[in-house]
Amino acid sequence: MPIDATNPVPPQFPRIAGRDNIPDHVPGELVRSVGLTFGPEFLAAPHEYMANLHGTVPPIYYDTSEFMNAWQLIKHEDAFHMLRHPEIFSNEGATPFPRDPDDYFYFIPIEIDPPDHRKYRAILDPIFSPKGVLALEQKIRDLANDLIDEFIDKGECEYTEDFGRPLPVSVFLDLMGLPQEKRDTFVKWAMDLLHSNDRAIMAQSMASITAYLKEMIAEKQANPDDKVISRIVHAEVDGRPMTPPEIFGFVVFLFIGGLDTVFATLNNIWMWLAQNPQRVKEMIANPDAINAQVEELLRVWAVTFSGRVVAQDTELRGVKFKKGDRVTAVLPACNFDPEVFPNPTEVDFSRPRKPILSFAGGPHSCMGAHLARLEVKVALQEWFRRIPEFALKEGTKIEYRPGGVVGPEHLPLVW
Ligand code: HEM
Repeated sequence: MPIDATNPVPPQFPRIAGRDNIPDHVPGELVRSVGLTFGPEFLAAPHEYMANLHGTVPPIYYDTSEFMNAWQLIKHEDAFHMLRHPEIFSNEGATPFPRDPDDYFYFIPIEIDPPDHRKYRAILDPIFSPKGVLALEQKIRDLANDLIDEFIDKGECEYTEDFGRPLPVSVFLDLMGLPQEKRDTFVKWAMDLLHSNDRAIMAQSMASITAYLKEMIAEKQANPDDKVISRIVHAEVDGRPMTPPEIFGFVVFLFIGGLDTVFATLNNIWMWLAQNPQRVKEMIANPDAINAQVEELLRVWAVTFSGRVVAQDTELRGVKFKKGDRVTAVLPACNFDPEVFPNPTEVDFSRPRKPILSFAGGPHSCMGAHLARLEVKVALQEWFRRIPEFALKEGTKIEYRPGGVVGPEHLPLVW
């Protein structure tokens, strides 16, 4: 039965975890404990680790961990199959962020299955379309330059804090219609919520975000503008205004979906650039190839995953999935599928164009993908123009924090 976003209730099916909790239909030879996102081997070099899965595990395996057991898909074709069949692989309850069961809301649009899903996406299509995001290009360029102005003369920066985080936050505030003075507060909330790994800090941060966004929603109700929060607040679905939990679930998911992913992507890309000065020269010498360069960097530095719940028994590659099973498409691994991208770990700007999975695919493909591509492109262009030669600070040890969005924690750069 399709979920009703006007009457949100916590999902009833259990989240099972651990090696003692393997369902009978799962063949023993497909069971693994891969440790994605938290194991020490993964954290040592996450992308290399995910690329190597193609030689170390079956194409579909059942992963057990203390957090959650789930089927994991690493083949490009299998991930697309899952993403394009929402009637079999549902999004109900597929998002990991906890909520108060007595004041429940769905994250919109990610937790809504088609056909209702489209009604929500349609509200923001004009803003997030390729043409819509172009209206933000000059603003992104100005923001990137303002940030660079703050540190260029020092000959060094802590990239993640000085550029990788504040850039997407500033773009986000502008897009949502929130004041730029809130930038540092938003960075702190996002870091506490998404990276503290401390339930008390996460809860405190979620409470601050909730209070602030609810206040802003009320403000936009009274004083409309043409930005995202106001459009959501004043939009209609099926000819009726949206309910408070729908409005809040939509606004808050943009915060979760649109910040950390861009941080992590920028941080990964700059880590690679800083260690590959010859490739930086090659990119600067070919400015007309910027779109292909961005696409290839996004392929190699995919940062996140797609989770689904099986809505009806099904079979893929001869493996039987049962209703209620969880499935994760390991999108970075799918981008390293050697059958689709030969020499997959090599950054090759002249690869024949094939669909990458960094933004997933199917109905829930990332709503912010055009914006994210534009942010990466403008960031590269402005950085190269002003800081064409740079390197990792000597003695830097790259470290990753566990979590569903993969990127280096610190990135000290010098020039
Ligand atoms: C490089 C940056 C980004 C990456 C890698 C990324 C990745 C993704 C992925 C993989 C999904 C699909 C999740 C799933 O299938 O379960 C997704 C969905 C989504 N993303 Fe992004 N994202 C990025 C930036 C953004 C930005 C900037 C925004 C908005 C400001 C955004 C908003 C969304 C929304 C609203 C969805 C849900 C779409 C739906 O359910 O229909 N994302 N993103």
